[in-house]
Amino acid sequence: MTYTDVLIIGSGLAALQLATHLDENLNVTILTKSNIKSSNSNLAQGGISAAVNTDDSPIHHASDTIKAGRYINHQDIVYEMTSQAPNIIQQLMKQGCSFDQIDQQLSLGQEGAHSHRRIVKAGGDQTGRMLVNTLISQLPDQINIIENAFVYELLHQNQKCYGVKYKDICEENHTIYSPHIVLATGGCGQLYPFTSNCKEATGDGVILAYLAGAIISDMEFIQFHPTLLYKNNKTQGLISEAVRGEGAVLVNQMGQNIMKAVHPLEHLAPRHIVAQTIYNHMKKGDRVYLDIQKIENFADKFPSITDHCTKQGINLGSGLIPVAPGAHFMMGGVTTNIYGETNIEGLYAIGEVANNGFHGANRLASNSLLEGLVMGERLAQRINQSTSNIDFLIEKNSKSQDFKRIDLPPINGLRDQMMNRVGIVRNNNNLLKMIDWLDSLQVEKYLYADLSEHSKDDIQRIFLYNLAFLITKSALNRKESRGAHHRTDYPFEQDSLLSFHTILEFEERRK
Ligand code: SIN
Repeated sequence: MTYTDVLIIGSGLAALQLATHLDENLNVTILTKSNIKSSNSNLAQGGISAAVNTDDSPIHHASDTIKAGRYINHQDIVYEMTSQAPNIIQQLMKQGCSFDQIDQQLSLGQEGAHSHRRIVKAGGDQTGRMLVNTLISQLPDQINIIENAFVYELLHQNQKCYGVKYKDICEENHTIYSPHIVLATGGCGQLYPFTSNCKEATGDGVILAYLAGAIISDMEFIQFHPTLLYKNNKTQGLISEAVRGEGAVLVNQMGQNIMKAVHPLEHLAPRHIVAQTIYNHMKKGDRVYLDIQKIENFADKFPSITDHCTKQGINLGSGLIPVAPGAHFMMGGVTTNIYGETNIEGLYAIGEVANNGFHGANRLASNSLLEGLVMGERLAQRINQSTSNIDFLIEKNSKSQDFKRIDLPPINGLRDQMMNRVGIVRNNNNLLKMIDWLDSLQVEKYLYADLSEHSKDDIQRIFLYNLAFLITKSALNRKESRGAHHRTDYPFEQDSLLSFHTILEFEERRK
């Protein structure tokens, strides 16, 4: 029997922060879907938002976070995170992270909807990679890292989670038992054809938790980043919002500023406003560009974006980078408290897969690395103090049906439907058509299958189709527009829905 004291699924910043803060006498295992460095954290260009400047304060940071989140954030958690942010930066510097500085002061970037310059960055636009490398280098030697591990089931009984099943690179099945199982599996950008996310970001953690009885909430809130590099009708990675923070403007093919008169902050308006504006222009057949001509020393400020554009054949000398919006961040997810605990004993969620209420209806730029770092450390403190162990190990097969074949179409069609019907702009008609289509495919029945009998590709399809159902259902249930959730049939925020959250539970769906 394979046993570990703490089992972490995923290897982004939240997972690594947790692993580096757990007591060294604990036996810790990290299961990661491909390799340890492949994560959205590693791709993060922006930075970590923290009120470290003398004219700024955690209160301003909290207020910007709540405004961007359109007032449905969990306010206590927002104040907790923003007041922790300066300490986190201090701690990382002590751990050896070298953040960008000018005259021995942190060089702070500006991003959309922030009232102050407060983005702490490293290597210009390589903050995520540098943080991930630093934390990986500090992982204790005894940590057991299992790469290419695709987790397909959480073992649970009586509201308690006690193990996982996963498939290795050769599709062999394995089981590991643990009293502490942490989902740090990231977001679900791969459910859309345009995304900034890494290929592993398929929302698996949400479906795993859902099947184990955890409460899933706010899944309608999918943030689309306004500016992904757009070439040959495809998006090819992120062009950081920090580029607009340094003075880039959004223009159409005639060179006209498309954000003028849309929002007082123009190019630095909240992300959903900028993404919707670009989307509407593209629907009309316009092309949209980031005009970077006013940015001096662009290549020095944004080395990895420069390198990426060059590799993609974009001539930066023209001063124009073609862009389009793409799925970037999942604000909803597995509901947790401020310690990362879910309603299922022994099951935790941190980072993007979790919904602890920090982001509300729309995440403020550069708040995600902050969240991962704060929550990784908090959960470590919780687990370090815990005396839990596994008091029972009864593996009962709750799978009532099996299917020889998984008759779900390939994923590209699903992605296109998500973009067109459950994307940046939504309405009742499209959402109902999506639900009808998913119902016609009977996506739910496969959740009752014995997944150990199926290939990783098939299980991935089952997870993605069911995730699409959860997002669509939530989008249908929120009858207003708020933050990243925009409905043309309910174009305004409703005050009566300020404390409303869409909640999904597997047992509920079965009834
Ligand atoms: C960006 O660099 O624009 C992304 C930062 C973020 O999503 O927080």
